[in-house]
Amino acid sequence: MVKPSNLILVGFMGTGKTVVGKALAAELNFSYLDTDDLIEQRAGKTIARIFAEYGEPYFRDLETEVIRSLAGRQRHVVATGGGCVMRDENWLAMRQAGLVVCLTARPEVIFERTRRETHRPLLQTPNPMARICELLDRRAAFYARADHRVDTSDLTPAQVTRQVLSLWQAAHAGM
Ligand code: S3P
Repeated sequence: MVKPSNLILVGFMGTGKTVVGKALAAELNFSYLDTDDLIEQRAGKTIARIFAEYGEPYFRDLETEVIRSLAGRQRHVVATGGGCVMRDENWLAMRQAGLVVCLTARPEVIFERTRRETHRPLLQTPNPMARICELLDRRAAFYARADHRVDTSDLTPAQVTRQVLSLWQAAHAGM
């Protein structure tokens, strides 16, 4: 078995990928990357503007390009956008890049964590809770493909970070 060289975080919006990803990068002395940031850099626009001007399929293509560009990187923690799990080619690239850990949370926790934020176009609807449940349902089988899952609902970011670190260390133990 090959040692995973990067740690990839997947999971729904509001599950803590960014905060935990940064903390993990600091702990492991890895670089931190956020695929949404890379998409915004490529497009020269915010995610909200990309969705508004070109639509979701265009955003998904940019996301796939960015994930493909992870190939060859080492010692990175990568926080991905919540919807990237829906494309098989993204999975192929993420698995090749490293260990894939999915952060999860209960719908009501996701709602609480995201309700005051306005930068996520998919949650700008009159009934964000219904949208969260609908998207979680549609994506459940995709999130289940990760190497590991950590339910963040009742944990602090520091506790989640420790759990993911243990998974990373276990993946490297005995190799
Ligand atoms: C999305 C999640 C967002 C961002 C975009 C779409 C999704 O990233 O990629 O708004 O489809 O779940 P975060 O998961 O970092 O919020």
